[in-house]
Amino acid sequence: MNVFVVYCHPNKDSFTHMIFGRFTEGLRDGGHTVTVSDLYGMDFRTDLTEEEYLRETHYRSDLPLSEDVLLEQRKIEAADGIAFVYPVFWTEAPAKLVGWFDRVWSCGFAYADCNMKQLKKALFLASAGKTMESLIETGNLRAMETVMLGDRINERAAEKRMVVFDGISHYDEELLQRMKPQHLETAYKLGLEF
Ligand SMILES: Cc1cc2nc3c(=O)[nH]c(=O)nc-3n(C[C@H](O)[C@H](O)[C@H](O)COP(=O)(O)O)c2cc1C
Repeated sequence: MNVFVVYCHPNKDSFTHMIFGRFTEGLRDGGHTVTVSDLYGMDFRTDLTEEEYLRETHYRSDLPLSEDVLLEQRKIEAADGIAFVYPVFWTEAPAKLVGWFDRVWSCGFAYADCNMKQLKKALFLASAGKTMESLIETGNLRAMETVMLGDRINERAAEKRMVVFDGISHYDEELLQRMKPQHLETAYKLGLEF
């Protein structure tokens, strides 16, 4: 498959960057073709301009889109599947990835006369400081799945899944070191079997 990977983390020494590395290694070993948008690396603009806001809220799909948005949409059109690799920030993705959706999921492409192709698969790989037990107990896992899989992907992919790599926090170094190897192995397998 042609897989478009949207990677979003500000730090190359992070665990999320390691997940990104192992996942894309798995994709390549699995014979997949990989295209990457490194949102911090490319300094993707994520705030809507006033014109962009008006275009979206007035359903003016006839108005032009910025070249950086069109570039992202072309990567989606050329892909069979999409994957997002990011850390959980306040039970969401970093603002940079949220803003990517604000701009790339545009009127006439992702909604209202939706022209976006249906992808075969959408996969979210999110690293979280909290434990899985806590994410489930608080309802935060369900909230993240509802927003990402239910709203942002919805019917835009035939198959959709979120995998959370939990317990990744310097608050508990012992837990972090214990969880790392199994999470990295999972990321590699998710790439291999995409
Ligand atoms: C601004 C901010 C908000 C965060 N919010 C959450 C959160 O809501 N839930 C959570 O489990 N972890 C949260 N974390 C922890 C990150 O998810 C953590 O950085 C992540 O597990 C990945 O580690 P890494 O930065 O080394 O890749 C937050 C971290 C930051 C910097």
